[in-house]
Amino acid sequence: MKLFRKSHVALMDDGILPAPRDMTQDMLADIIQVEQGAYSHPWLMGNFVDSIISGYHMPVWFDGDDVLCYFVAMRGADEVHLLNFTVASAHQRQGLAQAMMRYLREWSVSRGVHSIWLEVRASNQRAIDLYLASGFVTDGVRPGYYPVHHGQREDAVVMSLNW
Ligand SMILES: CC(C)(COP(=O)(O)OP(=O)(O)OC[C@H]1O[C@@H](n2cnc3c(N)ncnc32)[C@H](O)[C@@H]1OP(=O)(O)O)[C@@H](O)C(=O)NCCC(=O)NCCS
Repeated sequence: MKLFRKSHVALMDDGILPAPRDMTQDMLADIIQVEQGAYSHPWLMGNFVDSIISGYHMPVWFDGDDVLCYFVAMRGADEVHLLNFTVASAHQRQGLAQAMMRYLREWSVSRGVHSIWLEVRASNQRAIDLYLASGFVTDGVRPGYYPVHHGQREDAVVMSLNW
């Protein structure tokens, strides 16, 4: 199967991403930059370090030295909890999230689990649309789960994909 260039992102020709690299501490300076460009309340270095130490699944895709996208997933007994799912701002709207979701689903199936669940900010319509388009359903709301500015709080929408 040959690689082609979509914008300057290397994707397989059927939209499947090539093999990722596992996130390691030497990548974190670049990851934090992407994180800060993508979120109003980005993860901190310690969140990633703790996740690496905990052995979470943390694949990262690169284009040369550029971080394109990554996620952080915690595997439980029969489910995967998706903790972070990020496409670098400069590489959004190119299908990377859909391809990464396909990879996550296949990785989860291969680990024998039967569902993926996540929390997402109620205001994050881009992400909610992506998850709905990927087959996730809304399970409920956690009121005031996320911090916003000036001490205010925002609801989390809890979503899951089951098979
Ligand atoms: C949400 C996010 C992961 C989508 O990544 P992406 O690579 O741009 O998404 P894709 O190109 O694969 O698009 C998938 C679908 O997401 C939705 N979407 C993506 N970007 C969108 C935008 N700017 N406006 C509206 N919908 C959008 C659409 O349904 C889109 O399908 P379409 O392009 O065919 O209409 C990305 O915007 C991101 O990383 N945002 C910041 C971090 C974040 O919020 N992560 C989720 C935390 S729960």
